[in-house]
Amino acid sequence: MQEVQDKLGRQLRDLRISVTDRCNFRCRYCMPAEVFGAGYEFLPKDEILRFGEVERLAKVFVSMGVRKLRLTGGEPLLRRDLHVLVRKLAEIEGVEDLAMTTNGVLLAAKAEEMKKAGLQRVTVSLDAMDQDIFGAMNGVGAKVERVVEGIDAALAVGLGVKINAVVKKGVNEGEVPKLAAFARERQIPVRFIEYMDTGNANRWKLDEVMPTADLLAQLKQVYPLQAVCDPKLGETSERFHLPGVDGFEVGFISSVTRPFCRDCNRARLSADGHLFTCLFASVGHDVKALVRGGFDDEALATQLAAIWSVRVDRYSEERAGMKEIPKKAEMSYLGG
Ligand code: GTP
Ligand code: 5AD
Ligand code: SF4
Ligand code: SF4
Repeated sequence: MQEVQDKLGRQLRDLRISVTDRCNFRCRYCMPAEVFGAGYEFLPKDEILRFGEVERLAKVFVSMGVRKLRLTGGEPLLRRDLHVLVRKLAEIEGVEDLAMTTNGVLLAAKAEEMKKAGLQRVTVSLDAMDQDIFGAMNGVGAKVERVVEGIDAALAVGLGVKINAVVKKGVNEGEVPKLAAFARERQIPVRFIEYMDTGNANRWKLDEVMPTADLLAQLKQVYPLQAVCDPKLGETSERFHLPGVDGFEVGFISSVTRPFCRDCNRARLSADGHLFTCLFASVGHDVKALVRGGFDDEALATQLAAIWSVRVDRYSEERAGMKEIPKKAEMSYLGG
């Protein structure tokens, strides 16, 4: 299959696969409890792609040029027998990077199984080292300690580990130096993410965003950070390192103050098999209907290529000029 470019000349390289829309956290910036409460209707089981269907789609995407697969959710470790899917994906020829984004709470129990199945790395979300702040941000009082155990278990079995921290102004910017110190101690990268207007449930406001420039200035007072000068195409973060300290890096994902749509090569597959060509899209393309509708691999690839080839998404770049913000799908559904 020929590699495809979208309307802005961007190749499809990175597929993010959501394996569940459920999560054991209720982070206010993602799944606030008042919206995702007891009455919330999650996807019914038979709507969720089976492992064989995900594997098949992944293979077709790889034939179209995808090189990077990332499992997301919701919380991917809530999906039963996830290691079975990981093994199937790890065996696909052409996959160079197989990663997972997780909140880390179940990681200590699952790290070894994941590594054995062929997972290469995990990105663990950790927004604060302080228990009260973390407990409030994750909405369920989940413990910092459990996440740290997950990180350490992943490191112990040889998985690559990165930390992601969403920074909300007035909530956890004071935690940034502590998170950096933790990552430095473990010699792993930490990335600080500007709070984004994903979905509608979080009722995002611009004045809750902590701009990267301010954070960087704050951190530079503590660490003599130097820019890493080998940016990879389609990378989400601007990276800095500390001369003489291996493994430790500080990255900034500045989707609000410095959008990176220009070389965005990411597609997202929701747990129920809808393909989203942007994190901020309102609807996805029903790819499950094709998979379950008898399309063979070649016909599938043709359909997927047709979707990608007309893509013009660049929401983060356009947001500032928008008069009205459209309704968007929730991130827990379409996949972080
Ligand atoms: P690496 O492959 O390790 O560089 O990870 P990544 O940055 O691609 O993925 P990760 O799941 O760690 O995402 C980090 C943050 O960047 C999350 O808040 C994502 O939602 C956000 N992010 C990832 N891709 C995009 C994107 O295409 N657009 C926007 N606006 N944000 C994104
Ligand atoms: N803004 C920025 N990052 C977010 N994440 C979830 N919701 C948001 C948001 N509104 C992050 C998670 C995780 C990653 C997949 O996305 O913390 O690290
Ligand atoms: Fe769950 Fe991740 Fe969303 Fe938090 S950000 S509610 S951990 S999916
Ligand atoms: Fe890609 Fe959309 Fe994010 Fe821009 S806003 S980087 S197009 S996912």
